[in-house]
Amino acid sequence: MRIVVTGGAGFIGSHFVRRAASGAYTGGELPEIVVLDKLTYAGNIANLDPVGESPLLRFVHGDICDRPLVTDVLKGADLVVHFAAESHVDRSIAGSEEFVRTNVLGTQTLLNAAADGDVAKFVHVSTDEVYGSIDDGSWTESAPLEPNSPYSASKASSDLLARAFHRTHGLPVCVTRCSNNYGPYQHPEKVIPLFVTNLLDGRKVPLYGDGANVRDWLHVDDHCRGIALVAERGTPGEVYNIGGGTELTNIGLTERLLEMLGADWSMVQRVPDRKGHDRRYSVDIGKISDQLGYRPLISFEQGLAETVEWYVSRRDWWAPLKKAERSY
Ligand code: NAD
Ligand code: DAU
Repeated sequence: MRIVVTGGAGFIGSHFVRRAASGAYTGGELPEIVVLDKLTYAGNIANLDPVGESPLLRFVHGDICDRPLVTDVLKGADLVVHFAAESHVDRSIAGSEEFVRTNVLGTQTLLNAAADGDVAKFVHVSTDEVYGSIDDGSWTESAPLEPNSPYSASKASSDLLARAFHRTHGLPVCVTRCSNNYGPYQHPEKVIPLFVTNLLDGRKVPLYGDGANVRDWLHVDDHCRGIALVAERGTPGEVYNIGGGTELTNIGLTERLLEMLGADWSMVQRVPDRKGHDRRYSVDIGKISDQLGYRPLISFEQGLAETVEWYVSRRDWWAPLKKAERSY
């Protein structure tokens, strides 16, 4: 079995690769894995070190917008799992061009190559943010797409392209929409690793606005298991929400992190709110649970404790990333 993983040197993609390389998603059989990654600021080849010696892993340094390269890499693949994206909301507010290029044009390039290259299954990894913000209740997959940031708008556009390639060209593509992930190897621009590493450095943590925004936190391993289930048994043309983690306000999350790192509220700096800051995300996971038997397995308490431990022990991994970008 040959699996192509785009963005496999990023946070979630590398987790998927590390697990897939151990046969976790193929009943113990070891698949051939090709990682296609541009190694932007968010990509880190060191994320693949634990499986770097595997003879079945090939790394291709390249851009998902490069049509000839993508055509070559995707041809005849049994499975493409598409993670590659510009993923950080604040960066999309500062400048959206790269988001449209990679997330929209890059996805279209991949879908085109997959349709032409007889790819057996394509999973497009998307986000709950495409639905917009919801005060009460949860979105099902049939909720309208009402993205509010340039990031989520670019992801929504790519979701629609995936749908169109299924309807028009019969491409066997599924879309997954997941809630906020946490776990090891997450770039320190995202809130959990940012707050943990700032506190480890004795620096304050910047809490946006009133801190009452709600996110549903899911361990990256639970997300990747959901993706693998969709890859194996998802119906082509369908969308599957993935979530069911722990809903927390940012104040609630900050409180937990302060306590775990032995700090108090004097270490919190209130800063102006993110522009267009979505209040709450919440996905209904009834479809993937009922149809594919999915449920999250890692409790937030256990997952967060292990994640904090990982950052405590892996300063070698995150310190250079924070140094490269002073604003963290
Ligand atoms: P990330 O920013 O950590 O990693 C993105 C990876 O894509 C990096 O390795 C980067 O080098 C690569 N990449 C970027 N542009 C590229 C290009 N043009 N060509 C090839 N490679 C390129 O992202 P992540 O947090 O791991 O997210 C992965 C996917 O999951 C994204 O599509 C994101 O929208 C989606 N998602 C993320 C979350 C989350 O909480 N992080 C939740 C739901 C969905
Ligand atoms: O919901 C899924 C999405 O989750 C993914 O699609 C995105 O790729 C991923 O980045 C994440 O988006 P968020 O914007 O929710 O994540 P972030 O870690 O940037 O912020 C989480 C919350 O914390 C959000 O309400 C903003 C707040 N925050 C964030 C930062 C970086 C702060 O209060 N201070 C900060 O410095």
